[in-house]
Amino acid sequence: MSKTIEKSGNRAFRKWGSILVFSGLIPLLFAFGPWPDTPTGPEPGDDISRKVDSVLALMTLEEKIGQMTLYTTDWGSTGPTIRPGYTDDIRSGRCGVLFNSHTAAFTRELQRVAMEESRLKIPLLFGFDVIHGYKTMFPIPLGEAASWDMKAIERSAEVAAAEAAAAGLQWTFAPMVDITRDPRWGRVMEGPGEDTYLAAQMARAFVKGFQGESFENADRVLACVKHFAAYGAPIGGRDYNTVDMSERMFREVYLPPYQAGVEAGAWTVMASFNEIDGVPATGNSWLLMDILRGEWNFPGFVVTDYTGINELVEHGIVANRKEAGELAVLAGVDMDMQSAAYQEYLKKSVEEGKVPEARIDEAVRRILRTKFMLGLFDDPYKYSDVAREQRVLLSAEHQEASRDVARKSIVLLRNEGVLPLAKSIKSLAVIGPLADDQANLIGAWSGAGEGRHCVSLLTGIRNKLGTGTDILYAKGCAIEGGDQSGFSEALDAAQKADAVILAIGEHKDMTGEATSQVQIRLRGQQEELARQLVATGKPVAVVLMNGRPLVIPWLAENSPALLECWWLGTQAGNAIADVLFGDYNPSGKLPITFPRHEGQIPIYYSHKNTGRPFNPESKWTTKYTDIPNSPQFPFGYGLSYTSFRYGKPQVDKTVFRKGQAVKVSVTVENTGHRAGEEVVQLYVRDLAGSVTRPVKELKGFQKIALKPGERREVQFTLTENDLAFYTRNMQWAAEPGTFDLMVGGSSDDVQAVRVTMIE
Ligand code: BGC
Repeated sequence: MSKTIEKSGNRAFRKWGSILVFSGLIPLLFAFGPWPDTPTGPEPGDDISRKVDSVLALMTLEEKIGQMTLYTTDWGSTGPTIRPGYTDDIRSGRCGVLFNSHTAAFTRELQRVAMEESRLKIPLLFGFDVIHGYKTMFPIPLGEAASWDMKAIERSAEVAAAEAAAAGLQWTFAPMVDITRDPRWGRVMEGPGEDTYLAAQMARAFVKGFQGESFENADRVLACVKHFAAYGAPIGGRDYNTVDMSERMFREVYLPPYQAGVEAGAWTVMASFNEIDGVPATGNSWLLMDILRGEWNFPGFVVTDYTGINELVEHGIVANRKEAGELAVLAGVDMDMQSAAYQEYLKKSVEEGKVPEARIDEAVRRILRTKFMLGLFDDPYKYSDVAREQRVLLSAEHQEASRDVARKSIVLLRNEGVLPLAKSIKSLAVIGPLADDQANLIGAWSGAGEGRHCVSLLTGIRNKLGTGTDILYAKGCAIEGGDQSGFSEALDAAQKADAVILAIGEHKDMTGEATSQVQIRLRGQQEELARQLVATGKPVAVVLMNGRPLVIPWLAENSPALLECWWLGTQAGNAIADVLFGDYNPSGKLPITFPRHEGQIPIYYSHKNTGRPFNPESKWTTKYTDIPNSPQFPFGYGLSYTSFRYGKPQVDKTVFRKGQAVKVSVTVENTGHRAGEEVVQLYVRDLAGSVTRPVKELKGFQKIALKPGERREVQFTLTENDLAFYTRNMQWAAEPGTFDLMVGGSSDDVQAVRVTMIE
């Protein structure tokens, strides 16, 4: 709670600071955007449109701008507010949308102000960052991505929506589907990882889970695809930094997940902080009009990111906040989050003829339509029901869902025969700064989640083993700092025990917004503690809890067992115990590459071949001279307690015509002694194109469950679209030629079959 208040406070300072600094009147330097040719918007004549128009007709220009204004409030308790006058803004109709207010009681009271004390009685809309859970926390999105289980992800979003909606909310600022290939960027934890295909699947699953089938459903919330666009590609991995890439890369790698979210019906989109080819997204009509509305037919509304309009001044694209508002509104931004630029200047801009009032009406129609669709005009309090809130939050059913997704998100990185441990183990040492932690395990961006509801690893292990095992706990060291005074207690516990579980990693605030780092290693004395524990010769299972890929060469090569557990949410401890003791066989696969060294970044599996691909026999090929090119752990990698054997992939035809589909099949067999799940991955490579193509691109995957000895044929159908890309002329098309189709259990462990496409 305090984090957000503090965050808001800083921003308040920035906002009012900007007003003082940038109050000069400087001529408009930009032309009007493509408005009013916007191809979408409310359909004239439908029932809601008529209602919307009847409300619009009653509104003053100021009240219209109020609907386009989004402010944060406090957290629903007695804490400080970012904008002390926001209730007056509600009364005067100068603010129609709020965020960070939550709980049924608090939203109900604010809604009452709107309904009883404002002139037009237009209900408020309440938004919040429900990223991976509201009260019942799920794994961080990067962890969920590791599950490669879209049903589970959809379910997590559905639960998050049910809890958020019961707490008075109708809108979440999620999913974040920013591709990133740079784990220095702190927000890597909030996103889907490095791959376009996987991210697009996740975008769909999240949107479906949040929104459900009907907007009238009071147990779902509106989704907001963010941060549009390419926010995950800041230069140097430094948050908020410039993004600069070719249009081909932008369209091929970065845009598809947002598009998938929009196509799945996401009703809102958030413009990102960054620029694209010199134009910040918040003022970029090519992005918000041509692509989003023109190419994708997006019907909903566009909101800025926090103070995004004011930041146009800092970007250096306009001279002052009034111009910033004009640029944003004409570029297609319907709602101003927290800049107050619309509220303060837009009326004047309309009066001066710089912004047509029809553009304001268009934005307001979209927002009013949203409120009608949600049923708020019929029952403004339908989401603010205290009895429902009490019933829904943290329900047993939600805990079960959280535990299920959590264990599916765990990735087994290494296992020298240590795991799973027997439940009959006599004594067990549970060590490490994160072993008895609750607050960190819910992860950053944890909504209304509270550490006290989280099952720590120690508790999860106790729940699993009962009283039959002597469990020795020692913290050993802190996450940061130089203190080794706890080592002797930890080593002593290890010596007395039959096995050791060591929980180390990151503090939850080490990733998330504004937390970029140049070193992505374990801090403090954690690795030294691991080395000394491993040196005891006891079987040590290292449990990593972190929000980004870490550089961990020593652990990767020396730990007897290594589990990537991210931050798994409320049921973390139970889920990890399920895996440690074999009640769940780990099935996660990495959604992002783990580098050997930060100097390799950006490192990703879907790279180009170059004209001099690495050849160990030749000096003059692409490589580092001090470290291998290969990552520590590749994209798609993850072990199981059982083993899988892949047959050679087969195709139904090796030569096919453009437009024809190709079927690829492979037999996968569980060759071990335990039931297990495997993520069967399909990659393609176009060997020669009118522009160079990546060495591998994920185009399909299936997660299958096999009993010991069971074999299954897995089939994929590749269509022309799966082989298409932006050609030399920037046409989306597949080009005849030769392709390698590759199937396997990791991006670096595939077998290929070659096929040819003819005209
Ligand atoms: C973040 C967004 C978030 C917004 C509102 C911004 O700083 O970039 O992801 O939705 O704050 O909290």
